[in-house]
Order: sequence, then structure tokens, then C-alpha cells
Amino acid sequence: MAEKFFVTTALPYANGPFHIGHIMEYIQADIWVRFQRMQGHQVHFVGADDAHGAPIMLKAEAEGISPQQLVARIAAGRPRYLQGFHIGFDHWHSTDSPENVALSQDIYRRLKAAGLIYSKPVEQFYDPVKGMFLADRYIKGECPNCHSKDQYGDACEVCSTVYAPTDLIEPYSVLTGARPVLKTSDHLFFRLSDPKCIDFLDGWTTAPGRLQPQVANKAREWLSGKDDQALGDWDISRDAPYFGIPIPDAPGKYFYVWLDAPIGYLASLQSYFASGKARANGEPRSFEEFLAAPDTKQIHFIGKDIIYFHTLFWPAMLRFAGPPYKVPDNVYVHGFITVSGEKMSKSRGTGISPLRYLDIGMSPEWLRYYIAAKLNANVEDLDFNPEDFVARVNSDLVGKYVNIASRAANFITRHFDGALAYAGDVEALRGQAAELARQVGESYEAREFGRAMREIMAYADRINQDFDARQPWVLAKDPAKRAELQDICSRTLYGFKLLSVLLAPVLPEVGARVARELYGLERAFGWPDALELPQRVNAYRHLMTRVDPKQLDALFEAESPAAAATAAAAPAAPARAAGSAAKAGAAAAAPATISIDEFKRLDLRVARIVAAEHVTGADKLLKLTLDLGTGTRTVFAGIKSAYDPAALTGRLTIMVANLAPRKMKFGVSEGMVLAASDESGGPYLLSPDSGAAPGMRVS
Ligand code: 2FM
Ligand code: ZN
Repeated sequence: MAEKFFVTTALPYANGPFHIGHIMEYIQADIWVRFQRMQGHQVHFVGADDAHGAPIMLKAEAEGISPQQLVARIAAGRPRYLQGFHIGFDHWHSTDSPENVALSQDIYRRLKAAGLIYSKPVEQFYDPVKGMFLADRYIKGECPNCHSKDQYGDACEVCSTVYAPTDLIEPYSVLTGARPVLKTSDHLFFRLSDPKCIDFLDGWTTAPGRLQPQVANKAREWLSGKDDQALGDWDISRDAPYFGIPIPDAPGKYFYVWLDAPIGYLASLQSYFASGKARANGEPRSFEEFLAAPDTKQIHFIGKDIIYFHTLFWPAMLRFAGPPYKVPDNVYVHGFITVSGEKMSKSRGTGISPLRYLDIGMSPEWLRYYIAAKLNANVEDLDFNPEDFVARVNSDLVGKYVNIASRAANFITRHFDGALAYAGDVEALRGQAAELARQVGESYEAREFGRAMREIMAYADRINQDFDARQPWVLAKDPAKRAELQDICSRTLYGFKLLSVLLAPVLPEVGARVARELYGLERAFGWPDALELPQRVNAYRHLMTRVDPKQLDALFEAESPAAAATAAAAPAAPARAAGSAAKAGAAAAAPATISIDEFKRLDLRVARIVAAEHVTGADKLLKLTLDLGTGTRTVFAGIKSAYDPAALTGRLTIMVANLAPRKMKFGVSEGMVLAASDESGGPYLLSPDSGAAPGMRVS
């Protein structure tokens, strides 16, 4: 029976572009979604930007734009990644949306009516200059234990002591440098410790098949109050100034970003229903009817760092808000992606830039296959190893899979004008195929993608062996062996079709091409196609190239900030071997020291980008018109890969104003804007703090 799924991935913060960790999660969910659709199930797969919170508010302020403008700029960059890696969300929305405001306020009111919200005074550090309460990451000071300077407000990075920000010696605000003062305000709390919440969560977290065993164990530890830490209530309010959703009947108070973030899943679904796309995707009911229906399966794919929110707060909020809200059916958790064993930084990502990967012409399907081959259903980290990547893609995808088609199809085209014919028992062949499709289907269903790839490649080995054993190149020379030649090539091409169907969730583009070009289907493959023996085949057209190890070198090659920032570029940093490059991290060799007088020769100025436009014929450049207060300058900047021109207009940046003008192919560049970048990403344009104005000198 056709099932109905509502599937999400974690909503990314709208303060930066996607990094490879996001792409890995989306690929995992996308493979699972495509598999379900091939089974004939109805899937609604939605995402959104997680727009609220203090970091986004402060970043926008520093750039001299509104948070909404910042969020819009980041959102404008999303399709390039999603289309580039064939990630087929049905809808992409934002938590800063009318739907999310209404849903968050509705859920809050219901929780309040259920007696689960209360108010309590909280004393916290406050920046008197900024006029803002400070989260721990905005407070630094001297560690009370080892006396290291400049440690954050929650823990010391030098001696690992965990403390309260009030324990810091000589605390200061990271935002203004001011000494924070203690100030009290009323906060609203969600009573997670209420026995009815605990009872519900005890049942929800232990329901068979709901959570992976590691995740269920973790949730049980939290629920049972291990280490004498009783399950705490949840502070869900933040005081103005805050970029968030106003709390009803609580002037000046906003929902903490983590309250409205998961509600953003529902907001995106609601907006998708309103757009008519759900109907087009086979769902005639309303958003509320679909959400409340007992047969709707609500599934969230997330990373291991946000288990707490998704297995405690989120289900409890939904349960006690009541219908049409429904608790999640499954939360599927994955580990992090590492590169050559190095951990990823949440803000900087890894050494792999997804856009660079695409820009240098690497196939998205190579990465999809590699990720699939390394994923299982456990909460394990996945390592991207450049040598392993080259070996797996070249040996599995090209050597075992694609080559089968070219070898067999050429005989059929040349000798049989495309006609296939099977001699002997085809039921045995169908039986083997059915068994393989069943096994692989079970592996996909269980998110054991690595196992599915192994099963598929083992069958590819078998097809290659059978083909070689029957020596079609010898048969082709003997007119008496025509039927035998046609049989082995037909069986091989059926095998190739079977493999293509089974790989289609991972390789959607290759799968669609094989269906259309080779087998003449006017639609993409569905799972039942695995058992249909083709009767004809068209001439083989090249399907996939091998990875050139040099591409991995290029992927990790550092682009110097100057090269990224301006066309008046310094030579790019030399390419490094792929294996070591990822480990090299951001620590580019520091140039020799300069004197203060040398530094003073640089005329760095605040500039406003008054116009930004594409340059015809230039792959990397944008043409910027910069207002320096006293007049405008034209600068060609190598930032096209990271910025949409529309989103740059109006923002402040820093420029080198006394760089000698440089004549370029597209015009004269009258300076240079500053941007940061390294192997993990960029360029990131520099912005002054709020209050800076065009023409101000930077020193
Ligand atoms: O950790 C993060 O990146 C959050 N933005 C995830 C939010 S997931 C959901 F709750 F929206
Ligand atoms: Zn310390």
C-alpha cells in the first residue's frame, strides 16, 4: 500500500552558505526519498532556512543590512547547491515567515493552556553599551581555574573547565569590550520536567523502530537524570533586541530560535501545501488534514549534535500542543563528515567547498555514490578520503557499472540492430533479479546505503564475470554463434538495466539518461522496472568519466584571499597533494612581519557597494561600484562564486583605496575589496561593524 511521508532535514542557519556537512545530510535524505518514490510511495520533502537568533541579527547589523536582507541573500544562494547535487526538495521556505509566526504562536498558546509554560526571573550578564543580554559565547574573560585570558563564558578552551560566565575573572563583552553587568529579567519556560512530559517521552523514545538504538539510549540517559542532573525545564524566551518571533502577551520578548526552528518544518510544509505543489504531488487534502492523518509518517533527518532538541523538546511540544500536530514517527540521526580524518568546524565546514567541487567540473553523482557507499544506519562519522574517493568511483561506478553497458551494447548495435533476445531460462534470471531487488530495497529502507552499494557491486562483478566467461568477442567472429552472442549481450544489458534501477536513488541523472537513451523509456525508472527484461537497446552513449586524481588536487587547492578578492590577483597558492591538503587546514604560511610604517602605506577605507553586476565573459568576476564618501570607484572582484550581485547592493565593505589602477580585459579596476577564504570556503567579504560610514579610514 502506498505510504505518505513528510520528510525534512535539519534547517540550516541562514548566516552562511552550505558546507559539505549540509550536503551530506541532504544527499542521505534525498537518496531515501527517491527510493521511497520509486516504490510508489508519496513523499513530501521540505526544507527551510533557520533565520532567527542573535548571531544572524548581529551579522546583519555588522554588514549594515537588515536581518531579512541577510537571510534573503543567503537563501538566494541555496538553489545552486541543491540543483548542483541533485537534491530534490519539493519546497524551501524560511522560519522568518508568516506561517512560522502563526504556527509558533499557536503551539505556544496551546502549551500555555496545557499548563506547561511558566515565568521565572533570570539573572544574566548584560552589555550596558549594546543594551543587550549576552549569551555565553558573547562573553569572554580570564579562566578562574588556569587563568588563561580570553576564554568564553561557558568553558575554558585551555584547561577544559566548565563554569558559569559569572565565574570569569575580568569578564568583557565580545560585542563592545564593555564590562557586563548582572541584570534580571523574567523568562518564559517550557516545563519539560512535568511528569506528563516525562511519561510521554519515556514511551515515545522507546517505541520499537522509532529511534536508532544509540539515540534511544542517549535520550533515556537524559530522561533518567543521569549524573544527578534532573531533566531541566527549557528557557524559551529572549529579551529584545532579538531577531525572532514575538511571544504573545509578552511585550519585548521573543521565542528563543530553537523553539521556532523545528516549527519551521511545519511552516515549510504549510507553505508547500498553499503553493499547490502538494496537490500536484498527489495529495488532495489540506495541510491540517494531511498533518493530522494517522497514516502520515513524519520523518526528520538530523545530525548527532541536535539530538536533544529533536528527541525531547520537539516531540513533547507537538504532543502537548495536540491535533492537528502530531509527534514525529522517526528521527534519523547521522554522524559528522570528516575529511582525511580531520573534524569539521560547524562554522567553517571542512576543507571541501561544495561549490568548488561543482565549479571544477566534478560530477555530483560521484559524491552521491561515495557518500552512499560509506553511509550506514548507525550514528557514525563518515570520512571523505581523497584516494579512497578516486578508487571507489573509478573502480565501482566506471569500471564495474558503466563499462558493462558500453561493452555489451556495442555488440547488439553492430550485429543485431538493437534487438535483444534471450535463450534458455529467463525465469531463473528474473528470480535472481527479484531476490537482489528485495535485498537492496531492504537495505535502502533501513538507510544501510553502504550495504546496498556492496550488494549492487557484487552483482555487477557477477555480470562482468559471466560476460567475460562467454567471450562475446570470440562469438562475434563465428556466424554459427550469433544466437549465443545475442543471448549473453541481452542478459548483460538486462543486468545493466537492473543495476541502473537499483542505483537510481543514488544516481538520478545517470538513471534517467539510461532509462531514456538506452532503453527508450519516456519516464524515470520505478522499482518494478527492475524485473522487466528489455527487448531493445539503443546505441550506447558515453555515461560517465573517471575521476582524474588531479581534480582532487584542485578541490583542495587553496585559493589565496587576494586571488579571491580581486582580479588584481596574487598568484594562487601552489597545489598540494590531495591527501595532505585537507589536513593543512587554514594555517597558510604567514608572511614576514612588516613595520607599522609599511602598514600605514595601505589606505584601507570603508566603502558602500552601490552597484554590483555580472561581467559578460568573466567566470569569476563581479563588477562593483563602490561609494567612498568622496566619489565612486569601479573594482572587479573575484567573488562571483560566493555572491549574488543583487544581494551585495547596499552593504558596506572594506577596500584598499590606494592600490594602483590596473587595466584588465573587462575595464580598469580601481582598487580591491578585502575578503577571507581558505580551503574550506569563501571568499567572505569583510564588513565593518555598525556605525561605520563610507570613506572612514581603517587603521
Ligand atoms: O544546528 C543547526 O544548524 C540548526 N539550525 C538546526 C535546526 S533544525 C530544526 F529544528 F529546525
Ligand atoms: Zn582554564
